[in-house]
Amino acid sequence: MTEASPADIAKNAAAEAAVALVEDGMRLGLGTGSTAVFMVRRLAERVKAEGLTLRCAATSKSTAELAESLGLRIEALDEIGWLDLTLDGADEVDPDLNLIKGAGGALLREKIVAMASDRMVVMADGSKVVDVLGAFHLPVEVIEFGWQTTQALIARVLDEQGLDHRPILLRQSDDAAYRTDEGNLILDLALERIEDPARLSAALNAIPGVVENGLFLHICDLAIIGRPDGSVAELTAEGSEEEVE
Ligand code: 5RP
Repeated sequence: MTEASPADIAKNAAAEAAVALVEDGMRLGLGTGSTAVFMVRRLAERVKAEGLTLRCAATSKSTAELAESLGLRIEALDEIGWLDLTLDGADEVDPDLNLIKGAGGALLREKIVAMASDRMVVMADGSKVVDVLGAFHLPVEVIEFGWQTTQALIARVLDEQGLDHRPILLRQSDDAAYRTDEGNLILDLALERIEDPARLSAALNAIPGVVENGLFLHICDLAIIGRPDGSVAELTAEGSEEEVE
């Protein structure tokens, strides 16, 4: 068996601490990405060991498939209606718990699910914690029709807001354009710093061809940060950091 990497130990520690927040009877949103994979595994273990009764909605087809393969029943979000808690990963977390998400391409469903939850808890390793959002590419989900026009309009928004950026790239998968679970395309924005994420998010979402962007603003309630030694810290939007046993 190969030894777990320090990053995987950190992700698993964060996932385990997040899954410890789950209580019997909860309605859960299950995130997407490599940290979410640890979370789904730990959750399935708890369900098996403790006989928990949960209702789960998934933020992607891949998460739904994994969860079901581990014995968790996945329901459509609309069958459940409202969720108590969503557990998800992130690409960047700032001190206000604003996030960049969407490296895994699931930002649209992730935002719908997170916003349909009383509480969103992010699990991440320390490399995701930043002072200012923006060094990681910002994904924008767009419809295929007129996507190059949408790309040009996005570039105009970035210029108007004085944001340094490199060319806006259409995300690829193998030799073809990447498709989201909704069949849309993703444009990745390589910025430096996003000083005013609310202004940028509003301007992007005002472009007709844009479906959603990867800025999650004032949605996350708690970030659990795993470390390579297996310990975790909790970050809240009030700026406090708490060590967790
Ligand atoms: C998928 C996401 C993921 O949550 C985010 O990319 C973090 O992924 P990972 O846990 O693999 O670092 O937003 O759309």
